[in-house]
Amino acid sequence: MANKIHLMQMLIHTACTHTLLGWADPRDEQLDGLQDFAYWQGLARTLERGCFDGVFFADSPATHAVYKSSVVPSVQYGASWPNHDPMPLVAIMAAATKHLGIGVTLSTTGTTPYLATRRLSTLNYLSRGRVGWNIVSGFSMAEHMANGMGAQMPHDERYDQADEFMAICHELWNSVPRDAILKNAATGQFADPAKIRQVDFKGKYLSCKAVAPVLPSEYGLPVLFQAGSSGRGMKFAMDHAEIIFAIQGHVPGMIKSMEQLRTAAKEHGKSEAPKVLYGLQPIVRSTDAQARARMDELKERIPLEAILARLSGVFGVDLSQFDPDRPMKEMETQASRGLMAATLSGADGGTVTLRQAAAQWALSVAIPQVVGTPEHVAAEIERMWRETGCYGFNLSPTTNPDSVDDFVDQVVPILQKRGVYRTEYEGETFRQNLMA
Ligand SMILES: Cc1cc2nc3c(=O)[nH]c(=O)nc-3n(C[C@H](O)[C@H](O)[C@H](O)COP(=O)(O)O)c2cc1C
Repeated sequence: MANKIHLMQMLIHTACTHTLLGWADPRDEQLDGLQDFAYWQGLARTLERGCFDGVFFADSPATHAVYKSSVVPSVQYGASWPNHDPMPLVAIMAAATKHLGIGVTLSTTGTTPYLATRRLSTLNYLSRGRVGWNIVSGFSMAEHMANGMGAQMPHDERYDQADEFMAICHELWNSVPRDAILKNAATGQFADPAKIRQVDFKGKYLSCKAVAPVLPSEYGLPVLFQAGSSGRGMKFAMDHAEIIFAIQGHVPGMIKSMEQLRTAAKEHGKSEAPKVLYGLQPIVRSTDAQARARMDELKERIPLEAILARLSGVFGVDLSQFDPDRPMKEMETQASRGLMAATLSGADGGTVTLRQAAAQWALSVAIPQVVGTPEHVAAEIERMWRETGCYGFNLSPTTNPDSVDDFVDQVVPILQKRGVYRTEYEGETFRQNLMA
C-alpha cells in the first residue's frame, strides 16, 4: 500500500471509453474530439490540475467479430469501432503538460519489438520520461486476423512470445550506454560505435538484428504496466511490470486478487508488495439520488447486443448462444481469462447470469462504480484503498470530459483535505511520481 492514493485516468481513442453509447449522450464531446487536438490537451490539463499520476490509454486495435461471428453490432453501436491509434495522443497530451504521465497500450502480437521500442522510446525521449507502456499480449482474435496471423494464438503461447518480445526490447534499451554519445564537434564524432552493441536476437518466435533506434535517455525506459491476471498472465506481470492494472467487480474480489498477487510476488522472490491499481468508475452529482439517476440514464440507452458484442470479443466466446438469464460458468478461452473470471464471480462468491454480467459491462467493463456526492465518492475511495491495500485506482470515465471535470473539481479537493492524495507532484517523470 502506498502512503498516498495513486490515480490514473483510463481513456480510449475511440467514440467512447468504457461507457457504451457514451457518444450518444448530449454532454459527451469525445466524438468531436476525435478530430481535435484541443479536446485531448484540455483533458490532459484537467488531469494535471488534479495531480493525476497519468492517463492510461486502453486500446482495442481491431473490431471484435466474435458475437454472431460478425462485426455488425460492434460497428453499428460503435461498441469496438473505430479503432484510432492512441500513440499520437501521447505526444499531443505530453506537449500540453509538464508532469502528467501518459501510458499507452501496445500489444506484443500487433507489432515488432524493434518498432515498439522505437515508438515508445522516441516519445519518452521527447517528453523527458513521461511515457508508460501497458504491455498486453493481444487477446483479441480481431487483432490477430487484422494483422494477417490467420488464427488466434493460444493463450499461454502468447505470453511465451511476449517474453521474447520483452527480452528484445530490453536488449535494445540496454545496448547504447549514455557515454557512447560523444557529440564531439571538433572531431565530428557523434557516437562511439565501439560502445554500441548491435542486437542480434534469434528466438523461437521473434528475431531482431539492429542497432537501437533511439538515443539513450537519462530518464530510462518507459514505465512498464501489465494487466494479465490469469496464472500465466500474473507470471508475466511479475517478470516485467512495475505497476499492475487490475479489474475486480467488488471489494472482496480486490482483496482476494491482492492476496494472489502478493503470493505471486513472493514466489517470484520479490521483496516488495506489488503495486496494483484497480479500475473504478466514479459517478458524481450533488446528491446521491441525482448520481444514481445519472447512472440509470446512461445505462438505459445501451442495447444488450452492443454489450454482448464487446463482451464476446473479450471472452473470445460467442455469447449469442447463451440464455441471458442462466448462471454463467467460466469457459475455456484463448482470449482474456482474467477478465472472464473477474466478470463471472459474484461478490458473495456465487455465480452471475449473462444479463447481470452485461449490466456491469454496459458502463464500465466490469469495473465497479462509486456513485454519489463528492464526499461519498471520496470516502468510498479511501475506504476501498485502505481495505484492499492497493496502490491506487485507474478511473474509468462515463462521458467525456464532463465526468473527468466533475472528479477533478469536486472529489480531488476532498481527497486532498483527507490527506490521502498529493497536492503537488513530487517528481518530474512519470516513474518518479508513480513511485513517490
Ligand atoms: C485494467 C485493464 C486494462 C486492460 N486494457 C487492455 C487494453 O487496453 N488492451 C488489451 O488488449 N487488453 C487489455 N486488458 C487485458 C489484459 O491486458 C490481458 O490481455 C487480458 O486480461 C488477458 O490476460 P489474462 O488471460 O492473463 O488475464 C486490460 C486488462 C485490465 C485488467
